[in-house]
Amino acid sequence: MKNRDIDLAALPRWPAAFNQVPKWVFEDADVFELELDRVFRGPLWHPVAHDAELPNVGDYKTIKIGRTPLLVIRGDDGQVRAFHNACTHRSTKLAMAFRGHSGDIECPYHRWVFDTRGQLRACPGEAEFPPDFKRADYNLAQLRCESFTGLWLVSLNANPPPLLEWMGDLAQPVRDALGTDGRLTLLGYQKVRYQSNWKVYIDNDAFHAPLLHAAFRMLRWQGGSGSQRRLPQGHMMILSELDAQPTDGGLLRDPSVIGYLGGDAPRNKSPGQAAGSSLLAFWPLTAIANHLDIFNIRYANPVGLDEVEVHYAYFAHADDAADLARHRLRQSSNMIGPSGFVSLEDATVFLRIQQALETEPGTTFFLKGWHEGADLARTKQNDEAPNALWWEHYRQVMSFERATS
Ligand code: FES
Ligand SMILES: [Fe+2]
Repeated sequence: MKNRDIDLAALPRWPAAFNQVPKWVFEDADVFELELDRVFRGPLWHPVAHDAELPNVGDYKTIKIGRTPLLVIRGDDGQVRAFHNACTHRSTKLAMAFRGHSGDIECPYHRWVFDTRGQLRACPGEAEFPPDFKRADYNLAQLRCESFTGLWLVSLNANPPPLLEWMGDLAQPVRDALGTDGRLTLLGYQKVRYQSNWKVYIDNDAFHAPLLHAAFRMLRWQGGSGSQRRLPQGHMMILSELDAQPTDGGLLRDPSVIGYLGGDAPRNKSPGQAAGSSLLAFWPLTAIANHLDIFNIRYANPVGLDEVEVHYAYFAHADDAADLARHRLRQSSNMIGPSGFVSLEDATVFLRIQQALETEPGTTFFLKGWHEGADLARTKQNDEAPNALWWEHYRQVMSFERATS
């Protein structure tokens, strides 16, 4: 649904205090419609796949951005392209599988056939089509799609900024996170739907990490002297120190799951500190995570106002020994995946936030690390106040006016 009339003036004003966020922003259906337009179809880029997910000609992946279904496919010329996942005849969805391999793509409805470059190759009954019909007018609708160190990003917008300009200072950490050369091996996927608004999911702050999560206490997150950055484009970076030799305090039946084998994930090292963690979140919500030997991309997209779907894609570096690759997968899925003992705790809190929105006071608060004049672009590892800067970017993108007092 595009260009739906939404009366922004009917919404309460955004709070004057910089460190407060109104609860209506998580539960108003009109706000969600506006987000689909201003955020998800806005002038920005969405990560959709890594080369390692589409290694061969004809490999494809389907993914949604907002409500728009996409087909990302490696053509017979080796090039990855992103198309609307819709037949150009009567809009039948073409690929139904999450991931697969295809030669030409045939629509089941009237058997139009598209090649892996999106060109219409055959259409039954063509002789009786209008005389001005040209197949070339009905090729699949192609989107802007560019690669950064093997990561493919798509824009739904006609005029996105140049990719590198949009990534800004996120580019180098992402390159590091992807193993510098981007030569990855896909280990597998897990998918989950969190029962909350997508912004509750991405608002998961660094303050809570050792307070909610027993695992991050074992890894001595609280003692870390890492850092956070918030970039003008809305991206977030949380670079943290972890303890490479954690003690599980008898909580785990098999403590090796939190062990560190020294994989080549980027590490926020300081003297005496071997392990680390980085969370690199592209605006608005897909992230690359490295904790210990964990290495995943979390492709995320709202399903509706109060539901967000996350695809955890697990990777190893192409040069990893088999033991390390297996450890990465085991550690990733047991700690951070949908049934991971860290992420389960997050999922519960996301749901509990969504369930408690119709309450007073009508705002939420970012307190740790907040004071008037604070530089929220660069803060300590464990602060929550930098999230307020993400929200300021969001508020501006959405054109919500802040109250003056
Ligand atoms: S809708 Fe696809 S061939 Fe008619
Ligand atoms: Fe968390």
